[in-house]
Amino acid sequence: MFITLEGSEGAGKSTLIEHLKKYFLNKKIEFIFTKEPGATAEGAELRKILLDKTIELDSLSETFLLLADRLEHVRKIINPALEENKIVLSDRYLDSTYAYQGAGREINKDELDRFIKPLNFPEPDLTIYLDLPVDEGLKRAQGRDKLDRFEEEEIDFFERIRNAYLKLAKENSHRIFTIDSTNSETKVFELARDCIEKKLNES
Ligand code: TMP
Repeated sequence: MFITLEGSEGAGKSTLIEHLKKYFLNKKIEFIFTKEPGATAEGAELRKILLDKTIELDSLSETFLLLADRLEHVRKIINPALEENKIVLSDRYLDSTYAYQGAGREINKDELDRFIKPLNFPEPDLTIYLDLPVDEGLKRAQGRDKLDRFEEEEIDFFERIRNAYLKLAKENSHRIFTIDSTNSETKVFELARDCIEKKLNES
């Protein structure tokens, strides 16, 4: 089963991931945890470029680097693990590209699809989207370390991203489950866990 986690900066993905890892370990469920960008050795190099705020990238160049990272990720990590029937839990995946490059960078969806569709990336079985008002998320993110190339963007960029995620969730309700991230850390985990258990029981 392929599970992805999505959300804007500061939405609480890392905290939820720690809870989910412990839960899978306790339940003795075989899983791998992975992330985008940067899960493969090649992707780690691409991640450095993508997050480096001293590097100016055209939005399409940025998209191509993210897609190259994803291609390596899918071929070297995701597909082999799915073939072994493991649970794959990925911190970010395709929806990030539609939200950040599509809405954030304002690349038209048809244009994005023209590049993405031929790559035949597998569709997640379940996507957990952590939703948080933009100002709240940015406050949390800014309290952490130095800002990267994305985190430095204006508030409008993140408003567009949040709206895009909410739209994606509406259009893909068969696989995207939205959690209100203003809930407590425990509540967010319990909601995510229940949703994963339901999906596991269905499969
Ligand atoms: P992270 O902070 O969650 O590790 O992600 C790094 C940044 O990469 C984050 O700001 C979102 C961005 N990103 C995109 O813009 N498009 C994508 O397709 C992915 C996977 C990430």
